[in-house]
Amino acid sequence: MAFPPLGALRIAVSDDVPRISVVATAAFRYSPLFDWERPDHEKYPEDTLSSYQTQFLNAIQSDDSIVLVQEDAYIRNENDKTTAIIPNDTGWTAPKAGAQVIVAVISIKLEPGSSHKGKLKNNKGKYHDKFLSLVIGLCSYLTPPNDPGRDLNRRHYDDWGTISAAARKKNGVHNDSVVSMIAVHPAYWRRGHGTKLATWARDLAVKHKVPQCVSAAPMSQCLFMSLGYKQLDVIVAEGDEDDPRGAKTLLLEFGREYRGGLSKSRLLRWIIRVIRNPIAKVVLIAQRTLSRRQVESSEKGAW
Ligand SMILES: CC(C)(COP(=O)(O)OP(=O)(O)OC[C@H]1O[C@@H](n2cnc3c(N)ncnc32)[C@H](O)[C@@H]1OP(=O)(O)O)[C@@H](O)C(=O)NCCC(=O)NCCS
Repeated sequence: MAFPPLGALRIAVSDDVPRISVVATAAFRYSPLFDWERPDHEKYPEDTLSSYQTQFLNAIQSDDSIVLVQEDAYIRNENDKTTAIIPNDTGWTAPKAGAQVIVAVISIKLEPGSSHKGKLKNNKGKYHDKFLSLVIGLCSYLTPPNDPGRDLNRRHYDDWGTISAAARKKNGVHNDSVVSMIAVHPAYWRRGHGTKLATWARDLAVKHKVPQCVSAAPMSQCLFMSLGYKQLDVIVAEGDEDDPRGAKTLLLEFGREYRGGLSKSRLLRWIIRVIRNPIAKVVLIAQRTLSRRQVESSEKGAW
């Protein structure tokens, strides 16, 4: 098996996008990065929703990413448990209480050049075929949704992308796989869903022997560290006139030993091996010369 067993998790399909975007909006509201990037969420909640629709639809349809979901029994007043604004028209119809619905999601971007690209996909679903979507054009989710981004502080949003890319480069994790997003709807927190999704991601790193990084918001830091992810750096956006609080996450990595390049310790081991071999050879030649001389001198006496 090229992938860890899924257990109760399942591969997301594009039909899941409307529900996933509700879960993501409800959950990410609790990340400090959300305040930093989406100060006008309350004014334009539909833009927040469509932004997550775009991000998850792209990830589900891209061979570079794996998107998994976890279901649980639907709680009728679930959105009373989040301070996010969930618009009435989300494109998702709530079922009866107790029916299984998506409550948690993870999106993992595979490392550059991965041989596992596109291998864990479920291409079923009426929203999958982009061409068909364009031809039919019946439903707003058939094509990536209109994404006006009026909830965004565009400068903060763009700068954060630049800052985190620079931190990844500086710490040499740009060839890692990445946990891009992990979110559990607040009505279903502390039921172990986040741990289950993050454990699968960690097991993927082990199985593929590929290091994996995550830019962890405060709520997920203990969770990832308890699974063996190590802190490499702090990613910081300094506060400014728009928001003096700024934003901060931890850059964590699992499986540093799987790095292909020459890390400091690998480089040291390589230098020692290269140096040790010739030294050992010189010592061996010297020993042989000495013993040959000894033999020759003892032979001289004998002859
Ligand atoms: C982080 C998150 C995914 C955890 O999901 P979950 O299903 O509640 O996770 P688990 O039940 O497996 O709990 C694992 C840990 O998450 C943290 N956590 C979960 N709910 C929490 C809460 N309400 N307050 C603080 N920490 C919480 C705790 O460290 C918890 O471990 P503990 O129970 O031993 O204290 C979820 O809280 C979430 O979606 N948060 C908002 C979005 C976010 O910050 N995502 C991370 C981006 S990197």
